[in-house]
Amino acid sequence: MIKRILIGTCMLLIVPVIALSAVDSIKIESHGTSRNKAGVGPVIFPHKLHKKSFKCAACHPKIFKAKLGGNSITMRQNMNKKFCGSPGCHNSPKAFPLFHCNKCHMKGK
Ligand code: HEC
Ligand code: HEC
Repeated sequence: MIKRILIGTCMLLIVPVIALSAVDSIKIESHGTSRNKAGVGPVIFPHKLHKKSFKCAACHPKIFKAKLGGNSITMRQNMNKKFCGSPGCHNSPKAFPLFHCNKCHMKGK
């Protein structure tokens, strides 16, 4: 009984820490099949870095839903000024361009 309470208390303390650190860098990997075909891996999105430079409202909810895996992002949309390619983002002189595939995509699958 005491053991259960202890484990329960530990979980209560640990789970929010994991949840918070997960927000710092987010893996975006909804499109496995087409990424495998193109030979690019999942995207590691540095959330913390972006949060330092922009207000939350610059991205949420207009460009990205604030939900893990909540956005279906394709390169066609990125190139059409949506998501990562939105005005002033990775389709403009302000950030590295979309053809630097491996700056966003992990190598391999
Ligand atoms: C600024 C960041 C960024 C850059 C640069 C980038 N991508 Fe992506 N790309 C993404 C994100 C985010 C996704 C969504 C990943 C997912 O859901 O699996 C994605 C998805 C994809 C997909 C799967 C969806 C689709 O469109 O079929 C392919 C294939 C892909 N990228 C290829 C590329 C290639 C090739 C390059 C370089 C020419 C590139 N990407 C450059 C961010 C980027
Ligand atoms: C440059 C754009 C950008 C900015 C600025 C930004 N976010 Fe995000 N945020 C994203 C992206 C992209 C995701 C990943 C969504 C996905 O997985 O499809 C995300 C995911 C999230 C999530 C879900 C992640 C999780 O672990 O549940 C929350 C909550 C969130 N953002 C809150 C915020 C808050 C609060 C701020 C401001 C302090 C902020 N975001 C600033 C782009 C941004």
